Amino acid sequence: MHAAVAKCPYATAGAASPGNPHRHLSRSLLQVSAASLAKFDQSKVASLDVNAVKADLKKFMVTEQASWPADLGHYGGLMIRLAWHCAGSYRSWDGRGGCDGARQRFLPEMAWDDNTNLDKARKLLVPIKEKYGDALTWGDLIVLAGTTAIESMGAPVLGFCAGRIDDVDGTASLELGPTPEQQAVAPCTRGDGMCEQPLGQTTMGLIYVNPEGLMGNPVPKNSVAGIRSSFGRMGMNDSETVALIGGGHAFGKTHGACPTGAGPGPLKSPSNPWPGTCGSGPMKGRGPNTFTSGFEGSWTTRPTEWTNQYFRNLLGFEWVKHKGPGGHWQWKPTSRKGASGAAATADLPNIMMLTADMALLEDPEYLKYTKIFSQDLEALNTAFSHAWYKLMTRDMGPYSRCLGKAPMLPPPQPFQLQLPAPPAKLADFNAVKADVAGLLKTDTENAAKFTRLAWQCANTFRATDYAGGCNGARIRFSPQKDWPSNKGLDQVLKLLEPVKKKYPSLSWADLIVLAGTTALQQAAADAGSGSVDLKFCGGRTDAADGKGTDVLEPRSYVNASVALADNAKVMGLTPREAVALAGMLRSTAQQQSLGYSGSWASSAAGQSRQDNSYFKVLLNNIWEPSKSASGKDEFKAKGNAKLFMMPSDVAIKRSPAFAAHAGEYAKDNAKFLQALAGAWTKVMNADRFDGPAGNVCA
Ligand code: HEM
Repeated sequence: MHAAVAKCPYATAGAASPGNPHRHLSRSLLQVSAASLAKFDQSKVASLDVNAVKADLKKFMVTEQASWPADLGHYGGLMIRLAWHCAGSYRSWDGRGGCDGARQRFLPEMAWDDNTNLDKARKLLVPIKEKYGDALTWGDLIVLAGTTAIESMGAPVLGFCAGRIDDVDGTASLELGPTPEQQAVAPCTRGDGMCEQPLGQTTMGLIYVNPEGLMGNPVPKNSVAGIRSSFGRMGMNDSETVALIGGGHAFGKTHGACPTGAGPGPLKSPSNPWPGTCGSGPMKGRGPNTFTSGFEGSWTTRPTEWTNQYFRNLLGFEWVKHKGPGGHWQWKPTSRKGASGAAATADLPNIMMLTADMALLEDPEYLKYTKIFSQDLEALNTAFSHAWYKLMTRDMGPYSRCLGKAPMLPPPQPFQLQLPAPPAKLADFNAVKADVAGLLKTDTENAAKFTRLAWQCANTFRATDYAGGCNGARIRFSPQKDWPSNKGLDQVLKLLEPVKKKYPSLSWADLIVLAGTTALQQAAADAGSGSVDLKFCGGRTDAADGKGTDVLEPRSYVNASVALADNAKVMGLTPREAVALAGMLRSTAQQQSLGYSGSWASSAAGQSRQDNSYFKVLLNNIWEPSKSASGKDEFKAKGNAKLFMMPSDVAIKRSPAFAAHAGEYAKDNAKFLQALAGAWTKVMNADRFDGPAGNVCA
């Protein structure tokens, strides 16, 4: 997570820095280097000569450095692993991880077992980073190095989306683990090695699964479920999974020259985490004496060339398990199985497989794709190039975040959920606003209804991977419209239908946001105690369906306090902003339709008028846990059977970081309204990377 890039001029109005909201966490754990504090300068990054960087990278790949010799004279394998371990930390549950931010340079990711020796890979790239300065972020450089490595060894690539913004430290990866923050948000309940969603990986410190097999046991079929589940948690299907594993392992080798290991790691030895302990003399721990994962060998006989030999080797030999020189279980070929095109018999001692590779033979779907890719290089070309681009780009969010030009920048891909362009002439938003104001007069409940619709539409936005938000108005479609939290919103959309029909160029997305904004403004004016100055900028457009938004479904957490803090972080909100938004007007009838017994607001204040009453009620009552008739957990006020709060409300009172803001708002309505205006504007515009079309604001 990093500085906001939404282009709406009001996107950060009145709000505290929208950057990483949890920089205060475990700072001592993080390594901040001066080099990492480079600013993101969008115009510089956009003007980067990507072809020049690629030319430098291609030269670099085959120019051996004494500090860390290249296997077979080519750094390609190492660079692919660097990029994939940077991007592969992404998980779709909360959008955390990925190479946008390049947090692999910092703890905790830096110290993951799977990132052993990647400090050397990054060091090798420093001269190129320095040559291009701020125009080339670490995130972009790492992804481009992996992508150029693939291309330079003869494989097809789809292209490169630039625009990653480097984080200044590793705080945004704390929830990826292993840390107390991860245990709070995403505990591994079944035990390390069998971790499930919310975690992306099955094993802490690894990217996906244990290469040696489930819990280190070399039984290939037992790895299938973990591979499918962990690749699935990153949004990859079976064909993409097989193409990525076999396409990636077409290149490079594993390193496990001896059993004594790589060294103490960054936590114990920050300046030289993995000196290497194999061998002796000047090449100790390097070149043929490298220990990285503890496995030894390559998957093909031509590991610096693009081939589908990986798949032909898997199918073309009988494989037996044995302990390699690094002391880990791995697999070696014995007799031929007759498939043509596998490695020559004389080369047999030179190739190996991991238990995780062998698993591709143990599942009917994986085997199907293994066979296809073994016979059809074109099919592999297409599947691998697309899956690699998705792996590298998935955490970047919408296509409009990609900088660069064709042909290097490919057209929008399905996973980028591209929206149609806005019409050349947008609706007259002042006229729309007047119509919405007319609707507000017809029913006092409409103010709460419209604000809730806009809030539910926009609050799916995730600062972690730039997914979600109200642009596209996908709340009209399944799966979003079916979420229990969106119950009753179809009726609110119906209320707005006449306005939508009246303005042919008005999108649902703009109407939803404008209706909520107008309602909130009106409700504050009606309260007579202050006003909120809310600007609205149009130009949102509508998606044709709700595809791809299932990952945005409200997450469940171990308790309401964790949920409160983590939801704010994922949305990119500070606690102060999150608390202000909790004080938004709320109708009792709507709360009841969601299954609660009622609301905190027993009068018009809070239901159709916007002031700071919520905070007074929250702080001045004692809340006792209860269950509604429909079984919802809620709290009722001691001594007042009409007042109810949700667990997320009471969590504000119980959490010191949040309660202090509630106290401040309870005392000062003007301060509250100002904070609410800032937070509202930020959330409503968080997904406007495209910027308002023609700067049309009302
Ligand atoms: C190397 C495991 C998926 C690309 C390795 C190594 C292991 C491993 C243990 C050896 C590291 C070393 O000792 O240097 C796995 C497992 C995977 C997986 C368990 C998933 C089930 C992938 C994917 C890619 C990839 C998806 C890329 C698309 C590579 C490359 C190397 C490598 C290029 C060679 C590194 C070098 O030459 O230094 N992998 N991998 N792997 N992996 Fe994977």
